Amino acid sequence: MTSTQAPSRAPIRGKARKLLVGALGALSSPHHLDRYLELADPLLATASNRARITHIDTSVHGSTTLAVRPARPCRFVPGQHVQFAMVIDGVRHVRTFSPAIMPGSREMVFTVGTRHGGLVSGHLAEHARVGDIVEVGDGAGDFVLPKSRPSRLLMISGGSGITPVLSMLGSLAESGATAVTFVHYARSPGHVPRRAELDALSSLPNVEVVLVHTRGEGGHLRGRFERAHLDAVAPWFADTPTYVCGPSGLVGRVRELYAETGSTELLHTEEFTPPAYVVDPDDVSGSVSFAESGIVAANSGATVLEQAENAGLTPEHGCRMGICHTCTAIRSSGCTRDIRTGETDSEPGARIQICVSAPIGNVTVEL
Ligand code: FES
Repeated sequence: MTSTQAPSRAPIRGKARKLLVGALGALSSPHHLDRYLELADPLLATASNRARITHIDTSVHGSTTLAVRPARPCRFVPGQHVQFAMVIDGVRHVRTFSPAIMPGSREMVFTVGTRHGGLVSGHLAEHARVGDIVEVGDGAGDFVLPKSRPSRLLMISGGSGITPVLSMLGSLAESGATAVTFVHYARSPGHVPRRAELDALSSLPNVEVVLVHTRGEGGHLRGRFERAHLDAVAPWFADTPTYVCGPSGLVGRVRELYAETGSTELLHTEEFTPPAYVVDPDDVSGSVSFAESGIVAANSGATVLEQAENAGLTPEHGCRMGICHTCTAIRSSGCTRDIRTGETDSEPGARIQICVSAPIGNVTVEL
């Protein structure tokens, strides 16, 4: 299903906006100004950058593509991710997605993979509507193009990992100075999002688009990532800067190949599958103290974020997979394990990403 609606209200900008916010903030005390502004238009809220959904496309299997128009422009470099928040059944949920900015527009386009049981991705696929309000943050992350553009690049994506890559490709296409081979993996033709953009890119003289279908016919190549694919379309890959974004399986296989060919330093990766984590029975002892809230809970061995949520806290977080750093908190004492690498650390006062840190024994976190 595809639906579109033109946004209608012009934003208030710059100095005038600051003056207005200051004056109204004084008048609205003791309540926050947003309490009143939201009644007129949710996009006027000052505490966060609200955005209105202007377009939703659910016609592609396994993903939803949506466009949103924020009240204020986001600071963002192609390839970076942003915080994306929405309220579902009265609860605000935050995720981390990579947008593309439409040329000549403030509109941001997201392609969100529909995860089995995923609360936000499922809501976007089934219930979100044009006109709904979300929040967007500024860009973060170092999955970005180098300032000095190379003469040739290889880009590889899988599933909804296509979004940051398309975002980067858009900026490369503008200059035309870099030859790009872009290899995208999708299950079948019906799982390929953003077809119009891909068609437009493949018509450019400096861009080659290669579609690989892992289970269906109709692509340029077939099957899961393997060296033979790059030998066929990018035999020079081992001496070319390469950007890959997608599920951890795809990213892992590309990483292995680049390690085998001694080209790891040319590889830039972003993966979006949460790390698989099985609680280590050796970690399940002692207690986790949340110092600011005064809550102490028996250590279940789960991540600090999960244990905090189970204790009734609502720590700030985004991706829940160690990418965005939104969840960072101070571990004042004790030892934690990084569930991605298995490494342990016990430096007092260290800032840890609580979504990928599991407490070992007694741990105190400033939450
Ligand atoms: S929530 Fe993104 S790094 Fe923890």
